Amino acid sequence: MIEPIYRSTREEREKWIKKARYNIFNLQSRQVYIDLLTDSGTSAMSQLQWSEMMLGDESYAGASSFYKLKKSVKDIFGFDHFLPVHQGRAAENVLFSVLVKKGDIVPGNAHFDTTKGHVEYRQATALDCTIREAYDTNLIHPFKGNVDTEILKSVLEKYTDSIPFIILTLTCNSTGGQPVSMQNIKDVRALADKYSIPLIYDAARFAENAYFIKLREKGYEDKAIPEIVTEMFSYADAMTMSGKKDGIVNMGGFIGFREKELWEKATTFNIMFEGYLTYGGMAGRDMNAMASGLREATDFDYLDTRVRQTEYLANRLLDQRIPVQQPTGGHAVYVDATKFLQKVPREEFIAQTLVIELYLEGGIRSAEIGTLMADRDPQTRENRFPENEYVRLALPRRVYTNNHMDVVATALGNIYNRRNKITSGYRILKEAPIMRHFTIELAPV
Ligand code: F0G
Repeated sequence: MIEPIYRSTREEREKWIKKARYNIFNLQSRQVYIDLLTDSGTSAMSQLQWSEMMLGDESYAGASSFYKLKKSVKDIFGFDHFLPVHQGRAAENVLFSVLVKKGDIVPGNAHFDTTKGHVEYRQATALDCTIREAYDTNLIHPFKGNVDTEILKSVLEKYTDSIPFIILTLTCNSTGGQPVSMQNIKDVRALADKYSIPLIYDAARFAENAYFIKLREKGYEDKAIPEIVTEMFSYADAMTMSGKKDGIVNMGGFIGFREKELWEKATTFNIMFEGYLTYGGMAGRDMNAMASGLREATDFDYLDTRVRQTEYLANRLLDQRIPVQQPTGGHAVYVDATKFLQKVPREEFIAQTLVIELYLEGGIRSAEIGTLMADRDPQTRENRFPENEYVRLALPRRVYTNNHMDVVATALGNIYNRRNKITSGYRILKEAPIMRHFTIELAPV
């Protein structure tokens, strides 16, 4: 499906972003030239998916579309039990309603913000056990999504009775779309077994993770992507899935379960929050499209083209000495804003300042993965300053060409050349108590 894009002038953008209270979520899509806000739900569906839309079975209960999706989930991930939900955070809401209670500790590799939000909303703690190397953007490490197993072991030892599960995010969005190695997955599984704690995956970008295992991990170079995916999921007890990423759909998600018992407990919450068990917030046609999208996402040529486009953009930035998280991850390029804008104080939101500069320069919409997204500490209500302030350039699947990437690289290069003139950022006018970045209102300092 082709969607038009719109050009604008700098004067227009200055007016629009001011009216949007310097929050790019408040911009209308017509006010954006190249939209790299997210790869979530913004991808283009294939001819197969569009034809599947026509075959949607919209029965309330027992639709053939449900069984089509169930078969994809079984074939790809090996789970016998599953519940459709409308998107990834809904999967978290339903599953965590069963598993997470006040005072719990949920260890993992840099939880995504909605995952952390759903843990903290239940007055539990999301504990980050990612390897230290992930936070040094210049350091080359093939699997910057990995868990530090020594740290995880000490956490499991110390809090055994308060840990409902370990969560692995594949790929790890918060550290730069970075993969987790099969060896690390196996090591985490061994610890999970030792302490009898379930292992759950946040599998939004599972196929990109499998692609990196094939390219970067010894022993997997000759294996097919579906084979690698099967092995990855053989070590999991359950999964939450946002179909808007590697399901290549505009809306959808599900929860996969190994054990019927856990599935059964989750069904009540699914009916309450999402919908009946055989649609869970999805239309039949959307279940059909996702059943196909999940399979298409495991095609090597598709993955290779996609990840190489991300790499292309990163290389165009590196050519201009623009600091980015290295090596490049799967779905996005993460610009290291702290290194880029060295004169803006962190209290004035460095990454957000660069997000706005990029919009003004080229009409390009990106995402702040920094202090605004990190929210305030639930106890002290102080700002949490994360180790890295990133501007994320996320690439929708099958949408833009490398010509668009050249425009993005040129715009960032122009800002980089005048970076020393950018010395101040933004202050908060209004914010929500949790996940504030979506609705925040700002003004220049
Ligand atoms: N887990 C990960 C790793 C994610 O990246 C996201 C969403 C979710 C869970 C939640 O899924 O949006 O379907 O409710 N990430 C989007 C992003 C929003 O832009 O990275 P959802």
